[in-house]
Amino acid sequence: MLKNSLEGRHVLVRDFSRRYLLAARGEGIYVWDHEGNRYIDGSAGASAVVSIGHGIAEVAEAMAEQAKTLAFAPMHMFTHQPIIDLTGLVAGLAPGSLNKVWLVSGGSEATENAVKLARQYQIERGSASKHLVVSRWESFHGATIAALGYGGHTFRRRLYLPLLQNGPHIPPAYRYRCDYCQDRPGCTLQCAAALEKEIRRQGPENVAAFIAEPVVAAALAAVPAPEGYFQAIREICDCYDVLFIADEVMTGFGRTGTMFGIEHWGVEPDLIATAKGISSGYAPLGAVIAREEIVETLERRSSNFVAGHTYVGNPLSAATALAVLRYLEEHDLVENSRVQGEYLLRGLQDVMGRREIVGDVRGLGLMCGLELVRDRETKQPFPVAERISWRIGDAALERGLITYPLQGCVDGVEGDMIKLTPPLCITREQVDDLLAILDEAIAIVEAEL
Ligand SMILES: Cc1ncc(COP(=O)(O)O)c(C=O)c1O
Repeated sequence: MLKNSLEGRHVLVRDFSRRYLLAARGEGIYVWDHEGNRYIDGSAGASAVVSIGHGIAEVAEAMAEQAKTLAFAPMHMFTHQPIIDLTGLVAGLAPGSLNKVWLVSGGSEATENAVKLARQYQIERGSASKHLVVSRWESFHGATIAALGYGGHTFRRRLYLPLLQNGPHIPPAYRYRCDYCQDRPGCTLQCAAALEKEIRRQGPENVAAFIAEPVVAAALAAVPAPEGYFQAIREICDCYDVLFIADEVMTGFGRTGTMFGIEHWGVEPDLIATAKGISSGYAPLGAVIAREEIVETLERRSSNFVAGHTYVGNPLSAATALAVLRYLEEHDLVENSRVQGEYLLRGLQDVMGRREIVGDVRGLGLMCGLELVRDRETKQPFPVAERISWRIGDAALERGLITYPLQGCVDGVEGDMIKLTPPLCITREQVDDLLAILDEAIAIVEAEL
């Protein structure tokens, strides 16, 4: 165990009460600790990062080759081949006319840079008053100060609230606990209509963009928007000249069984913010993918994009992502995500059939989750302090499964969930193993209660 041991004394850990295991190596869907115990990486890193699997030799070789050739480039004066190849590949994978790619270091930078690009575009097309970003409650767009401002996860925001640019938020598209129609037989899409109302309240002349996750990840444990939701959002955004930013930091690159999550709704966003799966955790990387016309508008007006970070367009990360995405395609892992994801979801429904404290299961592709409730009828959550999701997560860990326990689905604070996002290379038999451990872990905590 790492905590307070000699080697761990200087690590600033996130949870001071936790004893962290020492990870030693990874291969495929598995991670081993320093004592040789094996774990299924059911969260694919923290989280949904490792897309193609751990320990892929082709990626390690591509990284070593690039590190020897050119690890870092003076990007204020140069471009380089890996960035040219990677942006070309990503533009080809992205929906429709989204074909301009800006590479950053991770997800928070990606959403913030997408917002900056949206704002700059609105200025250059003569709508300088458009500055607000509308977002949703129970969402997560990053842990940096600006991203927490348009993010909607109360627990993650509240300590820093006085520092945040607190933009307008609308309710999430969350069928299980819908503000509008959870008790009606069908979804009425009032959650989408709420965007129009909010834009009109704020004044369309003030609203630059709307940002949303196609499948809500860290705040709701894999809740996909209902059918018709993003089609309605697209229409509203078009009607009021508001840019639609799809936050695909977690859903991008095959996680939900299509290359990008938004493809399930058949609409094109104006901007995509993405990260995680693009480099599968082998190197830090994120990207903004923009509609060509957005970038052309800036170019026509000689308005250079006022952004930039030390690792923008890093050659080592770009070469890594190239190798990762080629592997993803060659091994048909997006299709595997769809097939195994459906199987995993069915398995979770079986678990729900056996375990009373599971109130809901949901997901798309290999991005699934379950919600834990004290009472299925009333959907009453467990008290936060009981940390039910974490207790299940720890029971699973002891049995060889890494999950992603979460809290806050009810109001940003209460409400326990477990998110499951195994690497996209998982097999049917491995899904069975995962489900068996999870079921046992839930049964143990259920018995304690
Ligand atoms: C949807 C979404 N957006 C943004 C982020 C922030 O990404 P990062 O942690 O790489 O900054 C995350 C991280 O989990 C995410 O899930």
